[in-house]
Order: sequence, then C-alpha cells, then structure tokens
Amino acid sequence: MSQLIAIEEEGERLDESELISMITLLIFAGHETTSNLIATGSMMLFDHPEQLDQLKANLHLVPTAVEELLRFNGPSTSVGPRFAKEDLELAGQSIKKGDMLLVMVKSANRDEEKFSNSDELDITRDVHRHLAFGFGMHMCLGAPLARVEGDIAFTTLLNRLPNLRLSIPPEEVNWQFSLSSQGLESLPVSF
Ligand code: HEM
Repeated sequence: MSQLIAIEEEGERLDESELISMITLLIFAGHETTSNLIATGSMMLFDHPEQLDQLKANLHLVPTAVEELLRFNGPSTSVGPRFAKEDLELAGQSIKKGDMLLVMVKSANRDEEKFSNSDELDITRDVHRHLAFGFGMHMCLGAPLARVEGDIAFTTLLNRLPNLRLSIPPEEVNWQFSLSSQGLESLPVSF
C-alpha cells in the first residue's frame, strides 16, 4: 500500500480513485478470505479428528495440510467471470463467443480425474495444483501471503492450544455462502 501511495504521489501513473479502489480490493480480497481459511480449515479438522491428531503430531505437515484444506473446501467457491473467445462445446453445452462463464473452482477441486478419492480430506495429499486461488492472469495476487498466513495460523494454534476443540455440536455451526465465497458465522471453541 505504501508503494501504491508513493506511485500515486509521483504523478501520472495512478490517480486517486484508482489508488482507493486498489487499496479497497486488497483489504477485502486479502482479509475475509484468509480469516475464512483459518475458521473453515479448523472446522474441517474438527470434522476429521484422525487428521487433526496426525497434524498435531507432525506440525511439519502444516503447509501440505493448508493446500489440502484449500482444495477440499477453500474459501473461494468460484472465480471472476470469464468470457468465451470462440464458440465451443463443453460437456454437452453449446457456448457462444462472448458468453460469460462462471467457473466453479469448488467443483473443479473435487475432480476425481485430478484427485483420487477427491471427497476425502487427506492432509498428506501431494496436491500438485488446485484452483482455490483461481487460474491464469487473474490468479490471486495474495496467494503466497495467504499460504504463509495459513501456515503461521495453524502452526501457532496447534502449538499453543493442543486441546483446541469445538465447543458446540457440529450441526450448530452455521456456514455463510455467497456466489463466490464461503465461511462460518462463528466458530465457538474450547482449549
Ligand atoms: C486463503 C486466502 C485467499 C483465497 C482463497 C483467495 C482466492 C482468490 C481467488 C479465487 C481469486 C480470483 C482468481 C481468478 O479470478 O482467477 C483471487 C483474486 C485476488 N486476490 Fe485472493 N485469495 C486469498 C487471499 C488473498 C490475499 C491475502 C490477498 C492480498 C493481500 C488477495 C488479493 C487478491 C487480489 C488483488 C485478487 C485479484 C487479482 C486479479 O484480478 O488480477 N487474496 N483471490
């Protein structure tokens, strides 16, 4: 943000409205998504106690686990709209040049052809490439930061609070869904 402000002050390259919209994007794209990763990731581990135990016993698995949590049920369910550059036929659907497509990365991340037993959470899975951060020129700008934040959050949580557990019945945890994101209303825990 400091660099963006410096560029705006330098002169012609960025005007004030572009600066404000870029900073707004960074704050919204960068804050809620990562908070959701930490909360939903914890919830998924509570839902899979054997995976949670394995992770607690092997904290060096945290980076692999974060990738798997992103793949299995990450905070972004779809990416920004894409527009077809040419007519095409996809899975029996006829798509015309210029048509808008909403790509559901949540579904792609469970593609059985890419990930065996894709409906299972496996924190040791070697996830080569998932789509939780999107794809192509608009792929998430903050992915490296989000990964570091996820690694730090889960390592610190499990190190400091080894008895971390859900303090309400799992069915009382409420999810919030929008077109492109998902998270939890709250996650009451004991430790
Ligand atoms: C777990 C955390 C995060 C997830 C799951 C996530 C996911 C995504 C997704 C799916 C996209 C759209 C990509 C596409 O359309 O192909 C995106 C774009 C973006 N993200 Fe993230 N994000 C996360 C964290 C962050 C952070 C920490 C920042 C910044 C500090 C950030 C900044 C952005 C920006 C600026 C874009 C727009 C990129 C563009 O349109 O060129 N994100 N993110």
